[in-house]
Amino acid sequence: MSSTANAAEAVPQFIQRRALHIVFASTSGHTAYVVDALIGVLKSVAPGWEIEETVAEKTQPQDLLSGDILLLASATWNTGGIEGQLNPHMSVLLHDKAKTLDLAGKPCACIGLGDHRYFYTARAADHLQHYVGAHHGRLIVPTLKIIDEPYGQEEAVGAWGKQLVDASKPADWS
Ligand SMILES: Cc1cc2nc3c(=O)[nH]c(=O)nc-3n(C[C@H](O)[C@H](O)[C@H](O)COP(=O)(O)O)c2cc1C
Repeated sequence: MSSTANAAEAVPQFIQRRALHIVFASTSGHTAYVVDALIGVLKSVAPGWEIEETVAEKTQPQDLLSGDILLLASATWNTGGIEGQLNPHMSVLLHDKAKTLDLAGKPCACIGLGDHRYFYTARAADHLQHYVGAHHGRLIVPTLKIIDEPYGQEEAVGAWGKQLVDASKPADWS
């Protein structure tokens, strides 16, 4: 192991400060619930992190560049009658307002929600991931999919939150 990696591991958790910007869209409250559960976990495992959450409808393209890490979260909707779409507010933000934004290698993560009764289950996850890749962001953890009601799925959210923190440690940061 290199001395740089050793030095990074020696950095105590409490001074590993990261600014996480969560941009989410939620209609019936499920995505908001997942975001809240995630923030609860992050506050305990990464107390040094600064976390800002904004709803997609109040987010401007440049806001997507703020912070060290961008987290996009949205459920799947049938906007315009076609199933498997992003929440309309997230769709307007990413596919209209911020359609020419360059994420310039920014570390990103995505959460997509959906319901197993739809053919395109949780397709929002794919749309978010695609946006990150197409706009030159860097996905640092596999995308979290929450299928059906999120109540009772807090453990999966917690495990994913820990993965996010691990992926953000200085040794992994470039
Ligand atoms: C009108 C409508 C359309 C939906 N379309 C889909 C869909 O195409 N695919 C899917 O997986 N879930 C679909 N869902 C389910 C939602 O994505 C799911 O209930 C989600 O948890 C809602 O999250 P939210 O409350 O944060 O908006 C749809 C729900 C509604 C009410």
